Amino acid sequence: MTEAAPRAPRPMSASLVRMTELVMPNDTNPHGTLSGGRLMHWMDLAGAMAAMRHARRRVVTVAIDEVVFHAPLPQGYMVLLEAQLTHVGTTSMEVRVDVHGENPVTGESSHTTTAHLVFVALEDGKPVPVPGLLPESDAEKALHERARQRRIRRLELRAAHED
Ligand SMILES: CC(C)(COP(=O)(O)OP(=O)(O)OC[C@H]1O[C@@H](n2cnc3c(N)ncnc32)[C@H](O)[C@@H]1OP(=O)(O)O)[C@@H](O)C(=O)NCCC(=O)NCCS
Repeated sequence: MTEAAPRAPRPMSASLVRMTELVMPNDTNPHGTLSGGRLMHWMDLAGAMAAMRHARRRVVTVAIDEVVFHAPLPQGYMVLLEAQLTHVGTTSMEVRVDVHGENPVTGESSHTTTAHLVFVALEDGKPVPVPGLLPESDAEKALHERARQRRIRRLELRAAHED
């Protein structure tokens, strides 16, 4: 890890990213709905932007938790992605990405997926410390606590894989 002076903690809300896409023919699978790979690419981008906003550094993705697609998103639908920092370690940040699909004609909207991604801030290719995270509302504090528990499980899993 590269040494760097720790920077002042930042509120969770300061790094929120909202990204909207439109499902075009090029984004679809043979069923005419959004391909899983394209959606994961957008989730990765939204998450990375939230992490960069928090750290003010370039980041890489180091882990993506389970991703479940609850509903297909047909061609022509709008895809709304919201990425929010939920926890930071020393050099890593967990970002929750929520995805909703919206029918642009009826306005009907449905939840498609939620995933948690972990990014690491880099300087000269090496992990570098990021500012702390300040959960403010009760809802943010609950998200932060659940993220802290996921981090413990991920670190246990990593250690088990290294055995
Ligand atoms: C990210 C990377 C630089 C980390 O290197 P490393 O040698 O594992 O460094 P460290 O052991 O110091 O870990 C750095 C942070 O990543 C976290 N981390 C590493 N592996 C992890 C895993 N499998 N799951 C969750 N977090 C992980 C560590 O816990 C640490 O976080 P912390 O500082 O908040 O405690 C390295 O794994 C890498 O380059 N991976 C490839 C990234 C990539 O190409 N992504 C796809 C394109 S963006």
